[in-house]
Amino acid sequence: MTENGLISLAEVYKDYFKIGAAVTVNDLVRLHGELLKKHFNSLTAENAMKFGEIHPSEDRFDFEKADKMMEFAKSNHLKMRGHTFVWHNQTSDWIFLDTNGKEASKELVIDRLRKHVEVICNRYKDIVYTWDVVNEAIEDKTGEQYRDTKWRRILGEDYIKTVFEIVKEQDDKAELVYNDYNNEQPEKLEKTYRMLEEMLHKGAPIDSVGIQAHWSIRDSNLMDDLKRAIERYASLGLKIQVTEMDVSMFEFEDKRKDILEPTTEMLYLQEQAYHNIFSVFREYKELVTSVTFWGISDRYTWKDNFPVRGRKDWPMLFDMKGEKKSSFEKIVDFI
Ligand code: XIL
Repeated sequence: MTENGLISLAEVYKDYFKIGAAVTVNDLVRLHGELLKKHFNSLTAENAMKFGEIHPSEDRFDFEKADKMMEFAKSNHLKMRGHTFVWHNQTSDWIFLDTNGKEASKELVIDRLRKHVEVICNRYKDIVYTWDVVNEAIEDKTGEQYRDTKWRRILGEDYIKTVFEIVKEQDDKAELVYNDYNNEQPEKLEKTYRMLEEMLHKGAPIDSVGIQAHWSIRDSNLMDDLKRAIERYASLGLKIQVTEMDVSMFEFEDKRKDILEPTTEMLYLQEQAYHNIFSVFREYKELVTSVTFWGISDRYTWKDNFPVRGRKDWPMLFDMKGEKKSSFEKIVDFI
């Protein structure tokens, strides 16, 4: 086991917000298991609770991985974020098809979704304190408000409200979240704001906005954008959760594949980014209820395959050996 000193990240932030990590079952043991127990008090299943994984066919659920996470969380006094009910990716096709293989009716899809949510909520609601109810529903392209998805096509314009109501019926204690990426950037922020304002006006039980926070070391307007976004969403009476944070060494447009280890400059920019971002989170601690990283250490991150397949990235607070990086020191140096 790597020595990580006495400081626990979750402990340092206990009066601010929960500190979470996205996990696979392999992360529950050995080095990552130890880091989870020491530094985190919240877990998100990186994939195991997505519709397609946990409910692969109408009459079959696969709880194995999610149950292991729940057991780990229970034995180590962590809570969980439920991720995610309605998304355009990693969703089983069966839910959208009727018995003749044609597109299912609205009534049928709602009925199936309700059953799905009921089963998942009943099984996990003791440990899950918050659900990502709808994920990534806003369109990135200028001019269009909503992403065109099967969910929206079948359930209709107000489907976001419908889905929040369905989850609320099954779990009225959890914080219910609308989650998206780039929703701190001005244009997507305004689209998201308009959607949330409308849904809240119509009575949708939305508690919070999830800012995924898949960022990079060179995001130039990030601090201003982030503050503005937190304030705009808060003006609707909503809380904020940071749901999937990582700080990539590469900007999205940067498709280089020849960098085999992080340069000194990269590590420096990353520690500055983490430092600045966490100062903002702390400044808004009354509004921010959790900060979750999309992984644990640089040993394994989805960024190794996104947006460039097979290119190593180093976006986390712990390095390839599981040791604290200078970025870690920067976010605990305020005490
Ligand atoms: C990613 C996982 O990390 C990958 O393992 C998987 O192959 C694809 O999905 N936004 C989300 C997350 O809400 O669920 C995604 O997770 C990353 C982007």
